Amino acid sequence: MFPTHRPRRLRTHPQLRRMVRETVLNTSDLIYPLFAVPGDGIANEVKSMPGVFQLSIDKIVEEAKEVYDLGIPSIILFGIPADKDIDATGAWHDCGIVQKATTAVKKAVPDLIVMNDTCLCEYTSHGHCGYLETGDLTGRVLNDPTLELLKKTAVSQAKAGADIIAPSGMMDGFVKAVREGLDEAGFQDIPIMSYAAKYASAYYGPFRDAADSAPQFGDRKTYQMDPGNAREALKEIELDIAEGADMLMVKPALSYMDVILRVKEASNLPVAAYNVSGEYSMVKAAALNGWVDEERIVMETLTSFKRAGADLILTYHAKDAARWLGAS
Ligand code: PBG
Ligand code: ZN
Repeated sequence: MFPTHRPRRLRTHPQLRRMVRETVLNTSDLIYPLFAVPGDGIANEVKSMPGVFQLSIDKIVEEAKEVYDLGIPSIILFGIPADKDIDATGAWHDCGIVQKATTAVKKAVPDLIVMNDTCLCEYTSHGHCGYLETGDLTGRVLNDPTLELLKKTAVSQAKAGADIIAPSGMMDGFVKAVREGLDEAGFQDIPIMSYAAKYASAYYGPFRDAADSAPQFGDRKTYQMDPGNAREALKEIELDIAEGADMLMVKPALSYMDVILRVKEASNLPVAAYNVSGEYSMVKAAALNGWVDEERIVMETLTSFKRAGADLILTYHAKDAARWLGAS
């Protein structure tokens, strides 16, 4: 009558639970996103992302030191340029905001791994991730002309000192183009973290406030993936691996745990999960209302990404998580 198998035996003491825990989150798993703006002494809180700021380069450097002191190994930089145009000049210019921020951070904190997001949407006048014919209001992003711009962007970022290039535009052949560009410029040792399976998601809404990168017309559905597709993610990663990706990312994370698992099982490369802006904002909103326990929700969520197969997690919660990990 009574059960012989009693899983509860291993749950009787905190130390015992700790001993048999299968998945453990580490500070070394975390990557912290930062937004660079022109100017000096600037820290603008993003309205839809409490605790996240657009920072001028002097403040980015301070933040980078803090992140490093917390034991977080890496940041990823996004930029909001002073001017935007049809050629996304601010993305690939050697004096672009991300290039300048990267150089400043590497000088101040050489051992912090600086990733650069390689995309055009923050720099194009229309907010799309690629090149459009002047005056084209249909939002038909031209694939191959975009590759040339992405190549230039990646090379300028590597020249500025970026340790890892993270192309995120979901153009066909973007990993190959970026790899070729880096190799030709002598950056054979700079790894590529590909946004391999990136979905056309409503969860990016707050990021577009933070990065001022909402498309002015149309949407991103002709280049980002349809949320209903998981097998197609395997096609995308197969291509990115063949093109030379060193790490693969799944984005967003929370509603795509099945994709994280499939990508993990289908490849030998490190897998990153991007816990995106909307996922962060929902937790923050609920926590600020006192409706959920922020620390427990965040730690459970981040641990679950790892359980699903993520080796690395890009998250706006990184600094808080590092503090909570340090305290436990
Ligand atoms: C740029 C890019 C986006 C995000 C990361 N890189 C936005 C988008 O595709 O519109 C979103 C990150 C987030 O929501 O936190 N292509
Ligand atoms: Zn983009």
